[in-house]
Amino acid sequence: MTFKFGYAKNVLGNMVKCSNGFEGITMLGRSEKLIGSVVLSAGLMVSASGKNVTMNAISTGKVVATMNDDVLLGHAKTAMNNSYSPYSKFKVGCALLTDGGKIYHGCNVENASYRATICAECVAFAKAVSEGERKFQAVSIVSSGGDFTYPCGICRQMMSEFNINIKVILESNGAVKTFALSELLPHSFNADQLDNNNKQLNPLNK
Ligand code: THU
Repeated sequence: MTFKFGYAKNVLGNMVKCSNGFEGITMLGRSEKLIGSVVLSAGLMVSASGKNVTMNAISTGKVVATMNDDVLLGHAKTAMNNSYSPYSKFKVGCALLTDGGKIYHGCNVENASYRATICAECVAFAKAVSEGERKFQAVSIVSSGGDFTYPCGICRQMMSEFNINIKVILESNGAVKTFALSELLPHSFNADQLDNNNKQLNPLNK
């Protein structure tokens, strides 16, 4: 089924899924903001058939949208512009998509004391988690390096805390690669390996 949103603007081809089973592809959409408003308006969407647009209350489910990969990569490129990397001159940008459709940007923040440097992915996660976010579905990563920028080990670990299957989207010269984080971090260390009390804290078990 194909749907068109009420507040339509420029983003084509976003796959949208709701927790009540509804799913569709946006013909026109306002991407992350739209997804937010769908949640707020209890899933009011507009279906499209030709030029006739009809308002339908088709979903009261929570929207768990999968953003178009290219759109999320665009956000990572925007984030990269703010990279503070005077030492390595290697700019990294990252965009993190929550289940609710919100996007958090991150860039690498370097330090004269080199090991105090924070990676772009960790910045995005820290920003999102500090705003109360706990559920994430995709992360895009780009760099000034030209090649695909695979997240470093610490970033993979940081991401795995919240979703070992988060979709990781990488880009190099227009080519896009996607992975489930579990492919990039097999046999990960997680709270299940801690004692029983801490096991219950594992967000992956909730
Ligand atoms: N960097 C990231 O931001 N993310 C990664 O996953 C790998 C590395 C940054 C850290 C440092 O500022 C620069 O890239 C070179 O290592």
